[in-house]
Amino acid sequence: MISFLSSTPIPTTLLLFLLLLIIPTAILTYRVLFPKILKYPWPTNTPPKQDTVVIAGSFNPPHNGHVSMIQHLSKNYKQVIVVIGMNPNKVYKVSPQKRLEILEQILVEKNVKVAIVQGYIWRYAMLHNASTFIRGIRTWEKDGREERSLHILNSWGPLVFGPLKWPLKTVFMEGDTRYLHLSSTIVRNACEKKDNSSDCLRGMVPKHVEKQVFEAYR
Ligand SMILES: *[C@@H]1O[C@H](CO)[C@@H](O)[C@H](O)[C@H]1NC(C)=O
Ligand SMILES: *[C@@H]1O[C@H](CO)[C@@H](O)[C@H](O)[C@H]1NC(C)=O
Repeated sequence: MISFLSSTPIPTTLLLFLLLLIIPTAILTYRVLFPKILKYPWPTNTPPKQDTVVIAGSFNPPHNGHVSMIQHLSKNYKQVIVVIGMNPNKVYKVSPQKRLEILEQILVEKNVKVAIVQGYIWRYAMLHNASTFIRGIRTWEKDGREERSLHILNSWGPLVFGPLKWPLKTVFMEGDTRYLHLSSTIVRNACEKKDNSSDCLRGMVPKHVEKQVFEAYR
């Protein structure tokens, strides 16, 4: 009896500890192995979900494919935070500030906010009470492989680096099929051609920012 009493606490603690380790590991591993992918046409939330979502990218520059996604999110969630990720050690040809200016001119929706974030975007998203971290991709077949390491970081980062909160879920949003031929690289290349007119950006970025994008990237 005495030995039973004295030996019980240790196995129980150990068992609890193991469970606390195994269950989150299993869930987070599942999330990485079976990512949630939103295909186009995207589902709608009626009424809009009362959640804040963060969509992150480099938006270098933003183009119509991004705009279509963000406008959809804006109609389907309470708040959308568009995050321009920034590495302070990197020199950018077009600064994140400039990209923010362009995005703010495009995204006039009241519930959309643009922010530049250095460091871990999941930490920023958690501090802003976001429920979901969204990554825009063209298709999972094209971009999924490159997204995986970021996905692992987002899934495990909070548990390793804090704040010690349950990690946000990541959702991969495939592109609007009307703009799948577009990418920021294609827009940049169009600007670098030596012709002297922003007309080369027609259909790639919203018309009212064509000139601004062209001047920034030419
Ligand atoms: C996030 O939620 C906490 C707790 O509800 C609140 O104190 C904080 O102000 C919220 N932060 C933002 C940026 O809304
Ligand atoms: C480009 O266009 C501007 C005005 O639209 C003009 O002043 C300039 O000379 C043109 N430059 C070239 C290289 O064509």
